[in-house]
Amino acid sequence: MDLIIKNGTVVNADRTVRADVGIEKGRIARIAPNLSAPSRSTVDAKGMLVLPGGIDMHVHLNLFFCGTYSEGWETATAAAAAGGVTTIIDYAIQAKGSTIEKAVEARLEDARGKVCVDYSLHGGITDWNEKTRAEMDYFAKNGIPSFKMFMIYRSQGWMADDGILFSALEQTKKNGALIMLHAESAFVLDLLVERYHTPSLMKKYGAYCHALSRPCFTEYEAVQRAATWAKVTGGRVYIVHVSAAESAGIIAKAKAEGVKIWAETCPQYLLLTDAVFKQKDGHLFGTCPQIKQKHDNEGLLKGLKDGALQVLATDTCAFTTAQKAMWKGDFTKIPYGLPGVETLIPTMFTHLVKKNRFSLEKFVALTSANPAKIFGLYPRKGVIRPGADADIVVFDPKRKITLDAKRLVSTCDYTPFQGMALTGYPHLTFLRGKLIARDGKFVGARGAGQFVKRTPGGKA
Ligand code: URP
Ligand code: ZN
Ligand code: ZN
Repeated sequence: MDLIIKNGTVVNADRTVRADVGIEKGRIARIAPNLSAPSRSTVDAKGMLVLPGGIDMHVHLNLFFCGTYSEGWETATAAAAAGGVTTIIDYAIQAKGSTIEKAVEARLEDARGKVCVDYSLHGGITDWNEKTRAEMDYFAKNGIPSFKMFMIYRSQGWMADDGILFSALEQTKKNGALIMLHAESAFVLDLLVERYHTPSLMKKYGAYCHALSRPCFTEYEAVQRAATWAKVTGGRVYIVHVSAAESAGIIAKAKAEGVKIWAETCPQYLLLTDAVFKQKDGHLFGTCPQIKQKHDNEGLLKGLKDGALQVLATDTCAFTTAQKAMWKGDFTKIPYGLPGVETLIPTMFTHLVKKNRFSLEKFVALTSANPAKIFGLYPRKGVIRPGADADIVVFDPKRKITLDAKRLVSTCDYTPFQGMALTGYPHLTFLRGKLIARDGKFVGARGAGQFVKRTPGGKA
């Protein structure tokens, strides 16, 4: 063996066993108690959990958004490694009037040689015509079987109307692809944003205008509509960054009726409430959809428990405090997005396993196995078993830390979870058998991440 991880507790989505893990040529070769094979190196994981690497299938790196660029591929993926995430999926969004292919080529070129963990891209659909239909079929067969669509962001040129959404959903029935949907109600949202976009209301409420202009119904109306289109077309839809309790309820009901619908939520919607927008630095928390209320935190937690929501992802789109300062008191000018890929695994371990007593298996399902299954990476990723990539996190479940942006690898100079007391942190992160992070520090190589082709038809 090249490496044996000894004496650890190996956790997969279906079971937990005490075993040694033998790794050869970047893959898991054997799992057995007291593995006695010659090995070039060994790691003693006594008292540690041995987890499949985290998969964050929702990040936006080096994205030009709201007039500026989010944190780039290199530092954000080094941060991912330090936080126990070994695969990320970003987006290649078709410019209106152009092709998905051009968007994919541009993003691959942008990422080349910089990515420190394994990676993939979702396509993005903003137009619909015969060419888009053919491209969708082509990419579904050739490694990119998921496509992002936005029900908002008209001014960005990203919004897809319901006709485009309906057509794309119909096509997923044929090609097994998945439509990932940012579900918010564009027209009502624009109207409410305009209502709060007055000098006197912005002076009175500051960044809290972001919360006031985006009530829960601006999300759950769109989720309901998407569920309806998925039901009548028989298409496959995945709702990204679910933030409202009602949305989780709608998804649960649709699932129970047999609709092919899956969904994710993110740490910010579980750990924070919209009270953050009343803080002096409230604009730093600006993200779309906005962070909601305590009953939403609880409803989303229930959604994760009951299976309405199958994935934890971060929607990482990190801007520094200097970039966020571009808002200058106008909530419509905040560069929207938050850092998060580095803190996904440790914050969710504390919140779910330690505080809310989710099982270790469920935790692994939400952070690794389910995203791998739904997005066509399984069983190469998302599981510790012979033949899988040796993407492994040796996780110390007892390590206590207080989150501090200054000690994180990300170049973003704040974290929305500053000061949070955590129990449990990644000790070692391995990517295909190579050590890439130790105790919160990146020790891997720039550009060592490989592009991973995925397969259509995934589900969890
Ligand atoms: O505000 C956010 N979330 N920025 C990234 C783009 C998106 O909507 O996911
Ligand atoms: Zn979004
Ligand atoms: Zn996003």
